[in-house]
This record gives sequence, C-alpha cells and structure tokens, in this order.
Amino acid sequence: MREEALGAAMRASIPMTKGFVEAEGIVAKVDLTDCSQCGLCWKNCPFGAIEDIDKNPHIIEALCKGCGLCAADCPKECIQIVHYGDDQIAAQIEAALEEKPEEKIIAFVCHWCALGAVDIAGVGRSEHPANARIIRVMCSARVAQKYVIDCFDRGAAGVLVAGCEFPTCHYITGNYKCSDRLVRLRKKMEKKGYDTGRLWEVWLSASMGPKWVATMKEMTEALGLVPARKS
Ligand code: FES
Repeated sequence: MREEALGAAMRASIPMTKGFVEAEGIVAKVDLTDCSQCGLCWKNCPFGAIEDIDKNPHIIEALCKGCGLCAADCPKECIQIVHYGDDQIAAQIEAALEEKPEEKIIAFVCHWCALGAVDIAGVGRSEHPANARIIRVMCSARVAQKYVIDCFDRGAAGVLVAGCEFPTCHYITGNYKCSDRLVRLRKKMEKKGYDTGRLWEVWLSASMGPKWVATMKEMTEALGLVPARKS
C-alpha cells in the first residue's frame, strides 16, 4: 500500500515539476463529418477527456488514455484510436480468418491483465489448444460490436473477449462497459441468427494463466473444435 502511494505520488510529481503534461501516443481522434452530436462519447469517457463544445465532441489529448470506449460505441464511427484504428483491427481479423475460419477462435485480449495471464500461460508452457488467434486491444472497452459480428460473418468458430478481472480495469470502467455491451451484442446476434454460445468472455488478473488455459480448453470443447497444436 505504501509503495503504491509512493508510486502515485512520484507519477503526479512529474507533470508538476515539468509544468506541462505530455499526451500519450495512443489517443482518440475525432472526425466531425458524420457526427450526430449524440453525446455518448463525452457522457461515457471515464477520464473526462472529451469536451462538449457547442454539442461537438472535442478530445483533450492530455487527459485521453486511449482505452477506446468512445470509438467502440460511437454510432457514426467518427472516432478512431491512434494505433488501434478500425482499419487496423479489421485487417487483423481478416488475416486471422483468411484460412479455415471454422477452426479458429478470435480472442480480443486487453493489453494489461488479460494479456498478462496469456503470457503466464505461455511462460509456464501450459498445454492448451492453439485455436485462438489473439488480437490485442488496450482495453476490452475497445471491442466494438462490429468487430465481433465481422468475425462471425467471416465464419469464425468463436469469439472470446478477455479483459481485466472486476473491478480492476486499468481504464476505470472499461470492463464494465464492455460487459454491458456484450449483453446488447448477444441480442443483436440472436436477431442475425448467430448462436450466442459462440461468444465467450473471460475476466482475468495477470496471474491467472491457469484460468486462460482452462477457458481455452472449455471453449474449444464446447464449440466442437479439434484442439489445434502449436506449430
Ligand atoms: Fe483490461 Fe480494461 S484494461 S479490461
């Protein structure tokens, strides 16, 4: 606890000493061309990084942490995240499902705890099916519904969304927002005739390598896939 307090104080002292704040490289960018001024982005941003200026969203880059919540929920697709743009994520989905999509699980994995758990499983050389193709996002909040639908449209066997265990999302509420979005997404899947049992979610701490392994095994079995081996 003392160390955490010291760490927080040291982080806070950097901008106080410099007198200015350097923006992160991974931030949101908005294009107002199609903006309908719905206000979802500024109402939901967990960091207060989007201002409402005459009903138009304006990103305060010094406050933006690049979680991607605003971009994922923007109904007009006006917001992109630098390095995690729609085109970049769509290209990864397309490449991952180019061959034998029916044998693959697309796993959207948050960069922090969930990816930590995947690493632990790898470092521990835990035996588990290699059917998943991992697409890294900074936070589970970045996983837009359209990405998941795209995976199923392309014939993926399953989609897994992996984020930080509750309540420890590194972007405050990102995992809660993602979880709510998945509830809405399952309704949309039903309307499109997709089996909602093909969409899974798992919430992990960075030490939960065994839980990642167990999820991979369970999901592969539930989807009736032949467990792939690492080549
Ligand atoms: Fe892991 Fe938000 S950072 S779910």
